[in-house]
Amino acid sequence: MLGNSCRTAVPLHGRQKFLAPISAISGSTITLREHRVRETLLMQRREVQVRLAATRDRKPIAACDARVMHDLQRRELVDAAIAARRCWVAEHVGAVCGYGILTMNFFGRAFVDLLYVAEGARRKGAGDAILAAIEHAQHEDRLFTSTNDSNAPMRTLLERRGYQPSGNITSLDPGDPELVFVKFLSGANTK
Ligand SMILES: CC(C)(COP(=O)(O)OP(=O)(O)OC[C@H]1O[C@@H](n2cnc3c(N)ncnc32)[C@H](O)[C@@H]1OP(=O)(O)O)[C@@H](O)C(=O)NCCC(=O)NCCS
Repeated sequence: MLGNSCRTAVPLHGRQKFLAPISAISGSTITLREHRVRETLLMQRREVQVRLAATRDRKPIAACDARVMHDLQRRELVDAAIAARRCWVAEHVGAVCGYGILTMNFFGRAFVDLLYVAEGARRKGAGDAILAAIEHAQHEDRLFTSTNDSNAPMRTLLERRGYQPSGNITSLDPGDPELVFVKFLSGANTK
């Protein structure tokens, strides 16, 4: 089970292979040691760390997602999730760049209520890493979430992580159905 002490280091899929060969970095003058230092720095930059959010993360979360600042309902959702240890934050190069919230309000099932990555931090693997951490923390055998039909980034991310369609709700946003997804978790943590 994840706790406050748990940090999941998630290498960014497919990006590590782009490390430049020694000769490609600066001709033939770079030493092997310099190359290793640069390689380590590149690897660190390419890593996203996910951990349970704490109260001190409220401001960084609001800096990622302006709605937290302006929308009382969202702010209360974040605060309640932090207090319940059901909010995870992703850090990229040491700064919070996104967050995810789990609730149990979907027919009593584990439900990813919100996944949000700061606009400038997208396509770096943060969304994927947050979902992975939430899945890893589950005691339940399945995890639900939903998104609008029009939300191609989220739909692609969910498909990539093995989520399956689990029904549509057509009466929430006219012309843009809410699609429900489920992932069956074979390795769910036991209670
Ligand atoms: C959906 C969202 C959370 C994705 O976060 P992210 O950190 O950018 O996603 P990742 O970098 O982890 O992407 C993982 C994979 O998802 C898919 N993906 C993510 N964004 C995509 C996009 N804009 N277009 C196509 N595929 C996309 C890709 O397969 C991607 O892998 P790749 O970059 O190697 O191709 C982010 O776009 C977001 O915060 N959107 C606004 C809030 C939202 O709509 N939340 C979902 C509903 S609650």
